[in-house]
Amino acid sequence: MSNKPIGIFDSGVGGTSIWKEVHQLLPNENTIYLSDSSNAPYGPKGKEKITALSIKNTELLLKKGCKLIIVACNTATTNSIDYLRENYNVPFIGIEPAIKPAALNTTTNAVGILATKGTLSSALFSHTSGRFASHIKIVEQEGEGIVELIESGKLYSNEMESLLSTYLKPMVKANIDYLVLGCTHYPYLIPILEELLPDHVKIIDSGEAVARQTKVILEQNGLKNTKIFIPRTEFYTNGSVKVMQSLLGEKFKIDLLDF
Ligand code: DGL
Repeated sequence: MSNKPIGIFDSGVGGTSIWKEVHQLLPNENTIYLSDSSNAPYGPKGKEKITALSIKNTELLLKKGCKLIIVACNTATTNSIDYLRENYNVPFIGIEPAIKPAALNTTTNAVGILATKGTLSSALFSHTSGRFASHIKIVEQEGEGIVELIESGKLYSNEMESLLSTYLKPMVKANIDYLVLGCTHYPYLIPILEELLPDHVKIIDSGEAVARQTKVILEQNGLKNTKIFIPRTEFYTNGSVKVMQSLLGEKFKIDLLDF
């Protein structure tokens, strides 16, 4: 049993979509969330820089006493989780695009994937898609500009709508029946994506799976907080408190922190 917090970090506000799933499945757990918005987007930065930023976030969470760390960012996971696991002595949970369930269930044999440049170009992503999806057509699309719009509070904007319609066009043309969201910012786009996509296209993301995996790893390591109490939730951003508040709701206090 441990009442130490679970640490969660992302390049920005997107990982709050993961925090929500974790908080729902593990309501007793204390959590600390870091939004590294001043360094967003991570996507175009390259493996070395992304790893350096992941180390910085990890060390801050460890300093705050976290018992397990969720890398709530596909880009940071696919580029740096091996390094983190080798170098720090806490369990790490990562997130990767859910290409496997899409490849197993497609009936049109075409699946779309929207992710950052850093994720699509990573060795981990090509390994996973080679392993599970080599028999189907994968329409890959870099979500260039999406993270920036969300981070600047323009989730619902004409710019976002026109960017997404452009990105979805080749996928619709290829007759995809699954769209895999490969970035934790993207679940916030689901209402817009549903408007733009044909009805038969199903959208999948990995948020719930990350929460389930977190529960399993806590149990396996005897780290679950079994006491019933009101959990402590801490949110830190080095970017805009206002943007993060609009995604989380007014109920939670968000602190500005220089990290
Ligand atoms: N939320 C991050 C992800 O899942 C966004 C990456 C970025 O900042 O480009 O990949």
